[in-house]
Amino acid sequence: MTTHIKPQRGLEGLAPYVPGTPVEEVRRKYGLEDVIKLASNENPLGPSPKALAAIERALPGLNFYPDGQSYDLRLALSKCLDVDLEQVIVGSGADGLILQTCMAYLDEESEVIVSSSSFPVYDMYTTVMRATLLKTPLTADYGLDLDGMARAITDRTRLIFVCNPNNPTGTIVTADEVEAFMARVPAHVLVIFDEAYCQLVDSDRYPDTLRYIREGRGNVMVMRTFSKVYGIAGVRLGYAVAASELLAPLNQVKEPFAVNLLAQAAGIAALEDDEFLERSVAFNRAGRQFLYREFDRLGLRYVESHTNFILVEIGPRATGVHQQLLKRGIIVRPGQGYDLADFLRITIGSRDQNIRLIEALEAVL
Ligand SMILES: Cc1ncc(COP(=O)(O)O)c(C=O)c1O
Repeated sequence: MTTHIKPQRGLEGLAPYVPGTPVEEVRRKYGLEDVIKLASNENPLGPSPKALAAIERALPGLNFYPDGQSYDLRLALSKCLDVDLEQVIVGSGADGLILQTCMAYLDEESEVIVSSSSFPVYDMYTTVMRATLLKTPLTADYGLDLDGMARAITDRTRLIFVCNPNNPTGTIVTADEVEAFMARVPAHVLVIFDEAYCQLVDSDRYPDTLRYIREGRGNVMVMRTFSKVYGIAGVRLGYAVAASELLAPLNQVKEPFAVNLLAQAAGIAALEDDEFLERSVAFNRAGRQFLYREFDRLGLRYVESHTNFILVEIGPRATGVHQQLLKRGIIVRPGQGYDLADFLRITIGSRDQNIRLIEALEAVL
């Protein structure tokens, strides 16, 4: 079939986002029963039990549309974060909020600054909006180069995405570095701190970026997700905090009911599930230490991580090793898509999954 219907120009040459390979696909392709996925930084402990119970309680109400304003969830978030209700927006995952932000603020005239090795969804939606991407390389120790980002600012810069901790490197930029950076960012540039993994950070030098919003700074947005430590990636729920004036354009482009009824109920309950949050953090820390020890034993170099994944250097064989792991039923993320072709990004799993990963890596290497 030929069609003369053309997509909009922003999609020319745009590669679709490649998510972590689904377990089902590997089962089918390699005829395997037991497949584990360490490719999407999901929570190996499962969902927050309180969120799960709230979803069950909400199920009979599914004939109704959800509250389009997500009032109760936003109120709960504003109390937890000590910000105003009007300074909170929720979305269909942080992904959905990144899209809304790009729709709200970008056009052909705009420039967006990102790191060359960061979360690819920033690049994707910038391209969709036909804005220009400026990419700054990582520092020598695989961190975001805030200095380089500040130097890349022009009159046309509209957004800078600071992924902190950064996916896929797991590194953080510190409070001091952020402070020095913010002093150089002019008022026409919106800085988005993507803090999807903030609860997992092991450092007292990690910045409190919400402070900028409490202090009334009009060009800062903080984005977070329920997909990681709360373990509810499947319901698709994220939030952003910024001055209400900054959020107004995001509300203009928001899908009327982007956050569904189950997600709203789950989010409110998850915020009260401190026990699960603490357990997730402790479990991840133990898994991280275990994997560090094992990578050391195997002579593999890795980047010290503040997240639930670790960037491991494999060398020129990385693509082959990725394939070999797939054949053994272990899905990890190749570094290729992140401009880090010699690396694999490996999610910290359950104890059994981590052991299985190490055994497979040892055999393959
Ligand atoms: C840095 C970063 N930001 C945003 C997201 C998307 O989160 P969500 O599941 O809320 O869309 C991810 C998911 O992996 C991520 O790693």
